[in-house]
Amino acid sequence: MTPEDGEPAPIKSAPAFRTEGRPPVRLGILLSGRGSNFKAIAQSIRDGRLKGVEIAVVISNVAEAGGITEAQQLSLPHTVLVSKGRARAEHDADVVRCLLDHRVELVCLAGYMRLLSPEFIAAFPNRILNIHPSLLPAFPGLDAQQQAFDYGVKWAGCTVHFVDEHLDHGTIVLQRAIPVLDEDDAHSLAERILAEEHIAYSEAIGRVTSGEWEIRGRRRYMKL
Ligand code: GRF
Repeated sequence: MTPEDGEPAPIKSAPAFRTEGRPPVRLGILLSGRGSNFKAIAQSIRDGRLKGVEIAVVISNVAEAGGITEAQQLSLPHTVLVSKGRARAEHDADVVRCLLDHRVELVCLAGYMRLLSPEFIAAFPNRILNIHPSLLPAFPGLDAQQQAFDYGVKWAGCTVHFVDEHLDHGTIVLQRAIPVLDEDDAHSLAERILAEEHIAYSEAIGRVTSGEWEIRGRRRYMKL
């Protein structure tokens, strides 16, 4: 199909990664809490299930974040840049500087409880991923699993998406869905979604860094 046939042209010139013959793609992980998604990514890399990438730095905006202790235990470069009490633009500028200092090519938000400034997003165009514990566009924002449970949905899940200037909104990379069971409560549902997140994030990073994709409109296409 050509653009004249109505197929939207790639509007977000997704600068594909070329992994062949190049050093590993350098990931920057941003987190604020326990860091189980970060840990799952690190484990996938160590196990050789996620190839062609390495964790260049882990950054937390919260000093007590469990994820930072984990990074320390895994002997990965890590930094705390406390955001509390600072203007967003000022804090984000420090984070971007740290990511660039570590030559980060793909930023992965893994439970990073901060909205990014437009300047941050512009510094990494189509190079920031987020994971959200719902099947977007349903239930953006906080407590997505509780929102889904309260709504009474029969299917729930998680979404890995590119980050744009709107909350939980950018182009979807992949989703994993699970049925909501009659015996579920919001807590058990959240736990089962988390298990899916741990699979989804590594898979999404693998796809994005494969270089074999492009974004057209809101759709991400894998090239054959
Ligand atoms: C996950 O549920 C993720 O989807 C959301 O924040 C939570 C982070 O959990 N964005 P963890 O810190 O990775 O364990």
